[in-house]
Amino acid sequence: MVENNLSPASITSNLGTNFIGQRVIYYPSLTSTMEVAKQEAQLGAVDGTVVIAGEQTAGRGRIKRVWLSPKGSIALSIILYPSVVNLPSLIMLASLAVVHSIEAVTGLRSQIKWPNDILINGRKVCGILIESSVRGNTVDYAIIGIGVNVNLRLSDFPEILSTATSLSAELGRDVSRLRVIRQLLAEVERLYLALQAGGPIYEEWRDSLVTLGRRVQVKSGTTVYEGIAESVTRDGSLLLRHSNGKLSQIVAGDATLRA
Ligand code: BTN
Repeated sequence: MVENNLSPASITSNLGTNFIGQRVIYYPSLTSTMEVAKQEAQLGAVDGTVVIAGEQTAGRGRIKRVWLSPKGSIALSIILYPSVVNLPSLIMLASLAVVHSIEAVTGLRSQIKWPNDILINGRKVCGILIESSVRGNTVDYAIIGIGVNVNLRLSDFPEILSTATSLSAELGRDVSRLRVIRQLLAEVERLYLALQAGGPIYEEWRDSLVTLGRRVQVKSGTTVYEGIAESVTRDGSLLLRHSNGKLSQIVAGDATLRA
């Protein structure tokens, strides 16, 4: 078993960031890091505050789904105060940060499925949830929630067995959650600063999507779209070309890659 001391000191010590992860709030067990992060943000938590849970008992996924995060997984939320212009890019930079961090720590290559599922060999290894409070042109706060299946034995979770994977399942050995978390926080900060400096986050995200050029089915609310994923816009929407030539712009949804 790899060491798994997730104390705030073990995370922040020599992290090398300026603000992300300089304050860490850790709970061995928590309902959802999103809930605590929201409370902290409403109280004016310092930029880059991170809430981490050893396990979540009521983890939240996109589209009001449940997110499983038992012991051995990573569940964290990062509080940021971006400009309204940069808000749509958080999803992009978070996805890129996960892909870069997984590769740096494990050597595993992962891919991004629109909008923000991280896959290894076609199975989901990480989910990302962005929640924000916006009034007019003012962002009160934004929270990036990241859940990574690190040391999970998938056979213990039949409900996700056919669609999910974990870093340990891919590697055949356990992985240090601490190393992944530290890499992730450093990478989120690097990309966030690059975004603020006008760096090509959108372009890198677009070019990393496994979805583009593929036939996909997208569920968005009660509507199901089918077509070729042609491109993505700067605000993160998917442009889907139908067989009749029409183009749909889909702001949010769940994409399934077709053969
Ligand atoms: C998804 O793919 O549906 C998004 C999953 C996001 C899960 C993370 S785990 C940390 C944070 N806390 C939560 O309750 N959800 C996010």
